[in-house]
Amino acid sequence: MNEFYTQLTRQLQALTQDSPVLLSNLSNAAALLYQSIPDINWAGFYLARDRELLLGPFGGKPACLRIPFEKGVCGQAARSLETVVVSDVHAFPGHIACDAASRSEIVLPILSGGQLTAVLDIDSPLPGRFGPEDAQGLEQYAAILAGLPGWENLLKAL
Ligand code: SME
Repeated sequence: MNEFYTQLTRQLQALTQDSPVLLSNLSNAAALLYQSIPDINWAGFYLARDRELLLGPFGGKPACLRIPFEKGVCGQAARSLETVVVSDVHAFPGHIACDAASRSEIVLPILSGGQLTAVLDIDSPLPGRFGPEDAQGLEQYAAILAGLPGWENLLKAL
């Protein structure tokens, strides 16, 4: 993992170690990404419930509230359980444009106890913003979040 993401995951660990409240931790996790990653216009979570993704904590402009698993880049990550990198969102069939300025996107599934609990979505106004180093670093970031306590209760409360 490169130095940028090593530092970022360290910061996430420090930020999340003091609270057992997952909603608070996801809020800080989204804020940290939004203010740290250069050239992005949205970073946040969609929470998985009943084959639908519900808007969770994020940084950026207000976004779509609900995304079915069948739709969008987020839906593809939720179905495949794999990181999805889209270099040009205009060329991705079914992309959901929450902000017309977005040009590229990365979405990572978060799996806790083998179950999909959320996706982490990051958008950029630059085409081709996300590469293999981002995917690798953000997968570590997502793994830390997956290991936090509280997923079951958070999803039950939705
Ligand atoms: N573009 C996403 C929708 C969520 S927003 O980018 C915040 C998608 O196609 O799933």
